[in-house]
Amino acid sequence: MEHSNRIKKLPVQFFATLVQKVGKAIAEGRDIINLGQGNPDQQTPPHIVKALQQAAEDPSTHKYSPFRGLTELKQAAVDFYKSEYGVDINAETEVAILFGTKTGLVELPMCLLNEGDLMLLPDPGYPDYLSGVVLANVEYRTFPLKAENNFLPDYNSIPTRQRELAKLMYLNYPNNPTGSIADKAFFEETVAFAKKNNITILHDFAYGAIGFNGKKPISFLEVEGAKEVGVEMYTLSKTYNMAGWRVGFAVGNSKIIEALNIIQDHMYVSLFPAVQKAAVEALSGSQDCVRELVARYESRRNVFISACREIGWNVTAPEGSFFAWLPVPNGFTSEEFADYLLERANVVVAPGKGFGEYGEGYIRVGLLIDEDRLVEAVDRIKKLNIF
Ligand SMILES: Cc1ncc(COP(=O)(O)O)c(C=O)c1O
Repeated sequence: MEHSNRIKKLPVQFFATLVQKVGKAIAEGRDIINLGQGNPDQQTPPHIVKALQQAAEDPSTHKYSPFRGLTELKQAAVDFYKSEYGVDINAETEVAILFGTKTGLVELPMCLLNEGDLMLLPDPGYPDYLSGVVLANVEYRTFPLKAENNFLPDYNSIPTRQRELAKLMYLNYPNNPTGSIADKAFFEETVAFAKKNNITILHDFAYGAIGFNGKKPISFLEVEGAKEVGVEMYTLSKTYNMAGWRVGFAVGNSKIIEALNIIQDHMYVSLFPAVQKAAVEALSGSQDCVRELVARYESRRNVFISACREIGWNVTAPEGSFFAWLPVPNGFTSEEFADYLLERANVVVAPGKGFGEYGEGYIRVGLLIDEDRLVEAVDRIKKLNIF
């Protein structure tokens, strides 16, 4: 039996290869410090777990969910956007419940583009954006995110032809993998760019809760006109350590939201209602757990970045997300350096090349283990005497 051309064209998942390498090293009995992945290490806060337990015992959650999700979850998303960002959203027409945002990010090109249409993606960027490109059978070009521009795109450098042809553009701040954040002026520029060139914007707000130095990351929808040109996707995976629960939502332009809802009407019957009820508790309950989590990541960041600087590694501290984006020392490609660290220091990092051509020259470190292990990782790297 043959796989379809569509399946054959799907890119080999970068993280799958990384997971294999780590699995092999662990199976060999090595004491591996894994900084390569993006899986939150803390538990889901107990009040959210309790809400799931209670909801799971309620027989009404054992039935099919309404196709487009529970009204109370859409309302919780609306209330959350109002209280966190001061943004007004219509619960009926401007919210789509998602099985985690990866699903929505992959669905969106199928919703808005026709075969052969062009979309624009960040380089470096989250590799799974490419899955949506292949499944929708569309074309894509990338725009570089460079350190000298704080890893924001320079719209003036996007070629005229691409601006004319592109129909959809993905952005992501706080950014995976670079850890940079966007300000209001940048989002204002984005809305103007989108309007001028008739390009729809998807803002992936996966790390929306995680900003450092007292800076709260802003929502794309806070900017005037954003809803006319795009949507934002928000996941509970990172904010509440709920990566395994698979719950997120899209908010914004009603026409785009309707397209997402239509495709999902055909593919799913929404999420397990008990998970949706727990998500309501997450969004509308106390947000102390989020403040504690952000403080934990900030403390890890500070400890890790100081330790790197102490060994002579000239690194920039991330402003948000739970990643650090570190320059590779001279003489190595990012993959060579990642392999070197795995072989010689039992430290796993993600080579920047896996996030795109402009990721070359960097590695990504996830701040997803305790501070003593982060320090130990740097200590092991120090012993290699490369800085
Ligand atoms: C930038 C970015 N967007 C989206 C996601 C997907 O998150 P989820 O599908 O858990 O909502 C991730 C997960 O790692 C991510 O890093």
